Amino acid sequence: APAPIIAPSILSADFASLGKACSDTIAQGADWLHVDIMDGHFVPNLTFGPPVVTMIRPHVERPKEAFGKGTFDCHMMIAEPKKWVKDFQKAGCDLYCFHYEAAFSSNAESPEARTEEITNPKALIKYIHGLGMRAGIAIKPGTKHDVLYEILDSENKDEVPDMVLVMTVEPGFGGQKFMPDMMPKVEALRKHYPELNIEVDGGLSEKTIDVAADAGANVIVAGSAVFGAEDPSDVIKKLREAVES
Ligand code: DX5
Ligand code: ZN
Repeated sequence: APAPIIAPSILSADFASLGKACSDTIAQGADWLHVDIMDGHFVPNLTFGPPVVTMIRPHVERPKEAFGKGTFDCHMMIAEPKKWVKDFQKAGCDLYCFHYEAAFSSNAESPEARTEEITNPKALIKYIHGLGMRAGIAIKPGTKHDVLYEILDSENKDEVPDMVLVMTVEPGFGGQKFMPDMMPKVEALRKHYPELNIEVDGGLSEKTIDVAADAGANVIVAGSAVFGAEDPSDVIKKLREAVES
C-alpha cells in the first residue's frame, strides 16, 4: 500500500485562530490539512468557502511534490462540485475531493451550469486535473464502493481519481462514531488497487485506527482526536505507526 498520510481535519480546530492551528498541526507532524467544505445543502451544516482557504494558505508551505507535506485536501461536501473547482484552485487547494453522489446532481441553478461535468464524475475529474489539481472521489456510507470501479478503470488517465475517500460517518459533523461496517469497502478497493490512495474520514482515533489500517486505508483523517488531544503530536505519531505496521 502507498505511504501513510495523516490529515487532521481543521473542522475541530479553533476557528478564532485558524492560521495558527493550521501551521501548528503541520509542525506537530501532520502531512496534510483536511479542509471540510459544507454548503448546508449536500450536508446539514455550513463551514467555510474560498476566502477562508485563501487566508490560511500562507500559513502552510505549499507541497513540494504531488501529495507532499502541506497538501490542502479539500473535502467538498457540496451539491454542485463543478461550480467551485476554479475558486478553490485559486484559493490554494491541492486536492479537490468531491462526492460521487453530488457529481450526478442536476440541481445546478443556471442551465449553463448543467454541463456534462456535473453529471459525469469522469468528466469532472478531467476538469479538476486540467486546472492542475489532484482529484479525489468520496462515497457516503450508503453508497457502494463498486460504483467506483468503472471510474478507476478508465483508460483515459485524466479521468482516473488520485484518491478515493470512504466515509466512515455520515458527512456533516465532527466527533461522530466510527462505522466499522464500512471496512469491507476499503478491503475490496485495496484488493483491486494495491497502489491507490484510500482515505477514511470520520471517527478515527487511536481506538479505531487499527481496524482501518488493517482494511488497507493509508490516508487517515482525524478531527476531534487530533485537535481535542492534550498532545496532538503524539496522536499523529500513533496514527502513523498504526498504518505503517
Ligand atoms: C465529517 C467530516 C470529517 C470530520 C471528522 O463530515 O468530513 O472530516 O471533521 O471529524 P472526526 O475525526 O472528529 O470524526
Ligand atoms: Zn472530511
